[in-house]
Amino acid sequence: MENSRRGFMGKAFGAVAGVGAVGTLYAMKKTWDPLPSVKAAGFTTVDLSEIEPNKLVVEKWRGKPVFILKKTADMVASESEEQKARDVVVDGEHYLVCIGLCTHLGCIPAYRPDKHDFKCACHGGEFDASGIDTLPPPPSPMVIPPFNVKGKTIVLGEEGEAYKKMKEAGVLA
Ligand code: FES
Repeated sequence: MENSRRGFMGKAFGAVAGVGAVGTLYAMKKTWDPLPSVKAAGFTTVDLSEIEPNKLVVEKWRGKPVFILKKTADMVASESEEQKARDVVVDGEHYLVCIGLCTHLGCIPAYRPDKHDFKCACHGGEFDASGIDTLPPPPSPMVIPPFNVKGKTIVLGEEGEAYKKMKEAGVLA
């Protein structure tokens, strides 16, 4: 009686452990291979080809809002070197990609398409269309998250070549 009970418990434990192992393997596979799902294991993949110029797109990455703004030809033509250095260029188009949180106390600034800038309603701070602070109290530009350009998509959470260059140039924040 005792033996058969132990045998049953052993089998039951084995079955539970087996299910756990499969679950772990599945989770690991998701970490290694985040595509093609849009959001998986800390990565967000965004198709840039559908985005209209001067229309702010807000994506979510690791619980934070990420602003993606495709610039118009006029906006690009009038950019300073400092602004250009923060542009993500895909297929000849220029984009702002940044974490959409004010660097003062973390509110979400609103985009003003007519002015091509961002206004933070909390304490009146402003940022230009490259996410650079132009009116205090924000002490620094909005932060550029790790990204990797793949064809016409951008993968947030991966450090690609363009991101590494921005990091070296010290323009991420
Ligand atoms: Fe944006 Fe204070 S949180 S200006």
